[in-house]
Amino acid sequence: MNPKLFLAPMAGYSDTVFRQICGSCGCDETVSEMISAAALHYKDEKTAILARIEPEEPPVSLQIFGHDPSMMAEAAEILITGAYVPEKDRERFPKIIKPIGIDINMGCPVKKISGSGDGSALMQNPSLAGKIMESVADVCRKHNVRPSAKIRLGWNKNTINAPEFALMLAQSGAEQVTLHCRTKEELYTPGIHPEYLAKTAEKLRKYAPGCTLIGNGDIASCEDAQTMLNYGCDGLMIGRAALGNPWIFRQIREAAAGEPIFTPTPDDLRNMAAHMVHEIVLRKGEYAGIRESRGRAAHFCKGLPHSASLRDQLNHAESEEEFIRILMG
Ligand SMILES: Cc1cc2nc3c(=O)[nH]c(=O)nc-3n(C[C@H](O)[C@H](O)[C@H](O)COP(=O)(O)O)c2cc1C
Repeated sequence: MNPKLFLAPMAGYSDTVFRQICGSCGCDETVSEMISAAALHYKDEKTAILARIEPEEPPVSLQIFGHDPSMMAEAAEILITGAYVPEKDRERFPKIIKPIGIDINMGCPVKKISGSGDGSALMQNPSLAGKIMESVADVCRKHNVRPSAKIRLGWNKNTINAPEFALMLAQSGAEQVTLHCRTKEELYTPGIHPEYLAKTAEKLRKYAPGCTLIGNGDIASCEDAQTMLNYGCDGLMIGRAALGNPWIFRQIREAAAGEPIFTPTPDDLRNMAAHMVHEIVLRKGEYAGIRESRGRAAHFCKGLPHSASLRDQLNHAESEEEFIRILMG
């Protein structure tokens, strides 16, 4: 079995740098951090940076959030055609790379998002969610780009609706649905409920066989990956486990093929973290880049000796040179 392996959208992490790293470690496809449809509508310049895809990346879906069908369709059009690049940046970034898909965020549980009717709130409003899916799918079809959505099980354990909701999305034009096997109210509480993945897979197979189902939630090892596949999904999406171990993608593939599984050495971890920090600084400048790198490199430190003191030292580094010197021991 050779399931498609995706890097999950993670705000603050799934940027071009990390997407490239995961691509180099065997990830087939990635999904960007969520991008506000309203911010695209109002031509917010910071949002343009989130939307930029670089040539060395594996195929990327750009993920949007919002709740207005026409604004969501407009966002899809802007992202697919590259119209988000501000006038003054057109010469610097002449090459617009088309996303492989537009993904709609229907799972974010954060109050700022769901409280505005976006993200997971859409699972409580299937008719609006269907209209959004239809309007975005229309734009995607026009540009030959895959429309998809990422959902949770439902709002809470009493209102689980993922199987019917996923089918409704497929009937509204979604060609792929990713299911994070938790409810909105569970946030990230340990423990997932993959039995609903099986129910969703069964429903889609029966009534919407053209729509692929991607399983997500708590995949942290090759065994977790195999367990989730056994529930009947077509592919796997991995988020947090990749943050300090982007090699998880090739490890899953190697395990499935019965090959020896690559285990990163402390030097591999250090070198990968250093590479990531350098690439972040290149794009964000030293001041912002180093500050952002502190939290992100910390994920790689977990596998290194004296990780707590290493993280503490990195938190006080002010330059790239100092950061990398501390990291490399
Ligand atoms: C820091 C962080 C940011 C996230 N941002 C997004 C996001 O922008 N869009 C989205 O659909 N899900 C987002 N998620 C959820 C993940 O995509 C994923 O569904 C979740 O982490 C469960 O998968 P995992 O156990 O493999 O991490 C985020 C999760 C984390 C931890």
